[in-house]
Amino acid sequence: MIAAVNINITKVERSKLKDINLENIPFGKYFTDHMLEVDYEDGVWKNAEIKPYQPLLLDPSTAALHYGQAIFEGVKAYKNSAGEAFIFRPLDNCKRFNISAERMQMPQVPEELFMEGMRMLIDLDKNWIPQQKDHSLYIRPFMFSCDPMIGVRPSDKYKFMILLSPTGPYYSNPMRIYVEEHYVRAVPGGVGYAKAAGNYGAAMYATAEAKKKGYDQVLWTDAFEHKFVQECGTMNVFFIIGNKVITPGLETGTILAGVTRDSVLTVLKEMGFEVEERRLNIDEIITSQKAGELKEVFGTGTAATISLIKELRYKDYVMEFDVDSWKTAPAVKDKLNAIRYGQTTDNHGWMLKV
Ligand code: COI
Repeated sequence: MIAAVNINITKVERSKLKDINLENIPFGKYFTDHMLEVDYEDGVWKNAEIKPYQPLLLDPSTAALHYGQAIFEGVKAYKNSAGEAFIFRPLDNCKRFNISAERMQMPQVPEELFMEGMRMLIDLDKNWIPQQKDHSLYIRPFMFSCDPMIGVRPSDKYKFMILLSPTGPYYSNPMRIYVEEHYVRAVPGGVGYAKAAGNYGAAMYATAEAKKKGYDQVLWTDAFEHKFVQECGTMNVFFIIGNKVITPGLETGTILAGVTRDSVLTVLKEMGFEVEERRLNIDEIITSQKAGELKEVFGTGTAATISLIKELRYKDYVMEFDVDSWKTAPAVKDKLNAIRYGQTTDNHGWMLKV
């Protein structure tokens, strides 16, 4: 609960922006001049502040560092050719953030605080939004438990923060993917649908193993049969088989309800595609590939946007794709980009003006 969205602003004396080249920026390396920091104590959100980006001073016993009560979001802001800033579907991220918070036994962040804190922060740092193709301002809202106490229980204190990071494409080249059938990312009843920090830490070992074999990422499969595909690296995944587009459904709670996933589904339907959200077995993917029916495979995510998959390896079976001949995923990406960069009408109300 917050009495009102009362956010105190302290500005930097000198912007770091002139020291940074916004061409070809690596993902997540640079942060803007300011950040949002809000404390949760005694059942209320307080001390909401936008202030110069700076390190945090934390007690070594800070609960999140020990038990991982930590969640985050990924959102993006864009500039149109007139230089106006817009955020892509932030309310959807706010809702998902609070779903993650509930699953991790953390407090809800009021919508007004999440939305207005983000809007005010971006307004202050909007000169940092890169305007070139495939570039944007990546927005990282996050929350973690702060009790200086190593007893295993939900904290009484939390911090909600937002950072901003100018960014280029996350995966710049088509990807080679290893279908994982030993390690698992998520199980029904687990936290796969939450954007919990630990989901990403727990994925690193399998990803490193796949990298040693020459792959960029893993395609996660279900925990019981290692057959039903889930997510791909940090992305949702889509398969075009015949004239249908298939993506794993959300019903088992093992994959993230991606905002880009939902946007891609919407655009595909508008383009006239038949889309199915359902369980998808790797055997069905292989059978369709052998029959010449597997047309395109791609991942979607806020950071990744839409990334083409040029190779899938399952056990010793390798499927290679001629991504240069694909039409659908690039067309969906162009349509989404046209909305994001304000080159077409936003009929869905996805862009929130800063
Ligand atoms: C995002 O797409 O925002 C993600 O969460 C991926 C991120 C971990 C880089």
